[in-house]
Amino acid sequence: MIFDKKYWSDRWINEQTGWDIGEISPALKYYIDQLQDKEIGILIPGCGNGYEAEYLWSQGFHNTYVIDIAEKAVMNLKARVSTDFHSNIILGDFFDHQENYDLILEQTFFCTLPPNDRPSYVEKMHALLNTGGRLVGLLFSIPLYKDHPPFGGTKEDYIPIFNPYFEVISMEISDKSIKPRLGNEYFFEMEKRMEN
Ligand SMILES: C[S@@+](CC[C@H](N)C(=O)[O-])C[C@H]1O[C@@H](n2cnc3c(N)ncnc32)[C@H](O)[C@@H]1O
Repeated sequence: MIFDKKYWSDRWINEQTGWDIGEISPALKYYIDQLQDKEIGILIPGCGNGYEAEYLWSQGFHNTYVIDIAEKAVMNLKARVSTDFHSNIILGDFFDHQENYDLILEQTFFCTLPPNDRPSYVEKMHALLNTGGRLVGLLFSIPLYKDHPPFGGTKEDYIPIFNPYFEVISMEISDKSIKPRLGNEYFFEMEKRMEN
């Protein structure tokens, strides 16, 4: 099966959005609340309903951008936020996106990709970040499905893929996951390596 624009658009249209927690992820809120510089460029790829972006915008992080491949996801977010934010809400494919950011937030986007596509994700994240840029967020810490998303894994799977492109600062089981995911997610922070 191919997990392309049609696959994701159909899931949105058919309301098969079981990943959606209905609010900002508590672990990401905790991280965002520690950010001092409101000018930094932030991207949230595969943003879905974009609760994190909505929160960032409300807190004055107006260089926040989101991208999703499904029109309905983008429309849902636009319907909830101020029109000032609309030009930062991009309908498109993450892998075609060309920009540079200081921070990229990950929340159930990596797990949409079959394991064979993970190196492309890592390379693209590296290309999108500025010098010293960080990739921060949540990754499942357990194996999940083999033939459809969400695809899971463990540190042992993830670190060798990220390591050539990112210094993994931390990747530990999150104590701020929502109840159904508690104990099954890492919170991680990585910094772009310059030698690549
Ligand atoms: C599992 S959902 C997670 C949504 C959101 N991050 C959340 O946690 O609620 C994955 C999202 O990624 C989007 N997506 C999948 N492939 C994409 C791609 N190549 N580029 C941009 N968005 C993509 C889907 O449309 C979907 O909204």
